[in-house]
Amino acid sequence: MPKAQLRTAVYPGSFDPITNGHLDVIERACRLFDRVIVAVAHNEQKAALLSIDERMQLISSVTSHLKAVEVATFDGLLVEFARNSGASTLIRGLRAVSDFEYEFQMALMNRRLAPEIETLFLTPSEETSFLSSRLVKEIARLGGEISPFVPPPVSKTLKTLFATRRKNSPQTRNPRTITRRK
Ligand code: PNS
Repeated sequence: MPKAQLRTAVYPGSFDPITNGHLDVIERACRLFDRVIVAVAHNEQKAALLSIDERMQLISSVTSHLKAVEVATFDGLLVEFARNSGASTLIRGLRAVSDFEYEFQMALMNRRLAPEIETLFLTPSEETSFLSSRLVKEIARLGGEISPFVPPPVSKTLKTLFATRRKNSPQTRNPRTITRRK
């Protein structure tokens, strides 16, 4: 089928890093669309742990079993990227009520900007719906076990990265308690 006739969706995000929750959404999207472009956003306002290239490499490696997936990056408006890619749909994962306000606002704004493009919310599995890249990074930074939450290459990358940082940082200070004399 020529690319223009394929049902194409864009799944945008920061993916810093991709988690099992993202992967779950991607797998669901692949059952609905012929072509799913996982699009890593350049966002200079958000300090990222991983470079765009590292994030794209990880996404590519953990989605290698999904033939419909393409990995891309974009700068500028998401709807412009979707239009230029021939996509009819934007995919977003909706984990909890707390996601709703931000996602609803973004979906309506994107509709104003590009009425022909729909936003489709997919619900991740219960086992992954509590996950976020931010929490995964925090756990990894503090030396906790992240392998239940992210695919193996991501776990390996973050462990190596934070182990190096810990090695190069001054000794972690011991927690202290102040005891007052009575
Ligand atoms: O994973 P995130 O950080 O929640 O993803 C947010 C993202 C990248 C989807 C959003 O910030 C975005 O669409 N950025 C591109 C710029 C844009 O189009 N902004 C207007 C959105 S209404």
